[in-house]
Amino acid sequence: MTGKRQLKLGFMLHGVGMGWGDWRHPDADPTASTNLAYYKRQAQLAEAAKFDFLFVADSVFITEKSSPHYLNRFEPLTILSALAGATSHIGLVGTLTVSYSEPFNVARQFASLDHISGGRAGWNVVTSWLEGSASNFSRQAHLAHDVRYRLADEYLDVVQGLWDSWEDDALVHDKARGVFFDPQKLHTLNHKGEFFEVRGPLNIARSPQGQPVIFQAGASEDGRNYAARRADAIFVHHDSLEEGRNYYHDLKQRAAGFGRDPDKLFILPGIRPVVGSTEAEVERKYQEFANLTSIENALSMLGRPFNDYDFLQHDLDAPFPDIAAHGVNSNQSQSSRIIEVARAGNLTLREVALRFATPRSDFVGTPEQVADAFERWLVERGSDGFVINVSLPKELEVLVETVIPILQKRGIFREEYESETFRGNLGLDVPRNRHAASEVPVAAE
Ligand SMILES: Cc1cc2nc3c(=O)[nH]c(=O)nc-3n(C[C@H](O)[C@H](O)[C@H](O)COP(=O)(O)O)c2cc1C
Repeated sequence: MTGKRQLKLGFMLHGVGMGWGDWRHPDADPTASTNLAYYKRQAQLAEAAKFDFLFVADSVFITEKSSPHYLNRFEPLTILSALAGATSHIGLVGTLTVSYSEPFNVARQFASLDHISGGRAGWNVVTSWLEGSASNFSRQAHLAHDVRYRLADEYLDVVQGLWDSWEDDALVHDKARGVFFDPQKLHTLNHKGEFFEVRGPLNIARSPQGQPVIFQAGASEDGRNYAARRADAIFVHHDSLEEGRNYYHDLKQRAAGFGRDPDKLFILPGIRPVVGSTEAEVERKYQEFANLTSIENALSMLGRPFNDYDFLQHDLDAPFPDIAAHGVNSNQSQSSRIIEVARAGNLTLREVALRFATPRSDFVGTPEQVADAFERWLVERGSDGFVINVSLPKELEVLVETVIPILQKRGIFREEYESETFRGNLGLDVPRNRHAASEVPVAAE
């Protein structure tokens, strides 16, 4: 290892792909989203390349307009549990929404994954932005944006409290004396708050990481504060390094303001590299990628952060319509970003849709150029690493064979895992159990 700051890299397991047309590529496997063998291959490839983690995104509502991957896919913790058995070092990060689940169940599920994987679980805490989600959970309405974040805060208190139910040495297993556990080291939570009443304790021992790693992706004002206060790592989308640097600086400052070490909060933009061996191949592959997306698909993609808004009702070549209201209780940050880009460039609806569906980022280039972009973003503090999604079906293989070795040679990405746990590989400490930490010696009577 060099003394240089190291990139943190995640790989997004996303079956048939992000776009609506990705499954039609000649090399794409249209069954990928429910194909265990396919996920195993990708997971093992990412692990052989020493990626920090695998990431599974999620939502709990589809319509016939949802993208093919979202229409038919595995539940995140189920597939990650299966992959725990097929891998040994890579982190396993799954998305689970706090708006449509119970903290007791979620604490149990992630603690179980952490045990099953030997300390590799991570939870991407989301609040869900699609209003229709309510209709799958016997609810009249989706919670308002600010309420969702308030709930997320209390939710995490409960889950993390439950994860500390058992002190590390509580299960003594003393067969001779017939003592299975030490009752002094089992703690009842007794949480009563605005949204939840949870007694506890959790019915599974503290897991190898003590507390699974917390990911978050909120980008609105509420989302940023939540992430800066509570997350170990943050997902985000950026169009440029400048935008990335502003966000990075803002989040690190917020974290420090909350009394945290900003170096223990990793900011990881999502990217979709396109890598070619020559400039001509890069251009050919970029066009191949862009051509997978029809204008109808690009419009569906654009509608998502506006609560699945139907853009087809508008003139494609007229200025971008005024639909800001549809983004407010949905994905606030992404919908505002789209509106800003449209206004700044005075763009038509067609132009906006294509720009967001097939972005030509810093990560489109030859292996050296893409490695330069990784390094530039790291060194100029636009990010601490990336979460990578494929653009074309074989891009993970290409990236692993051509770009990762350059990053390793430059000393900014590991050649071997440092630890067997996800926390260990991220350089994060195992948090002390709150009950053990508060223990003060009691004077003997
Ligand atoms: C790389 C990345 C991955 C995300 N994955 C999910 C996901 O799997 N499920 C989800 O509901 N939201 C996901 N989000 C969206 C966030 O949870 C959040 O709703 C979004 O960033 C908007 O934040 P805001 O509500 O604070 O504006 C993701 C965002 C990013 C940038």
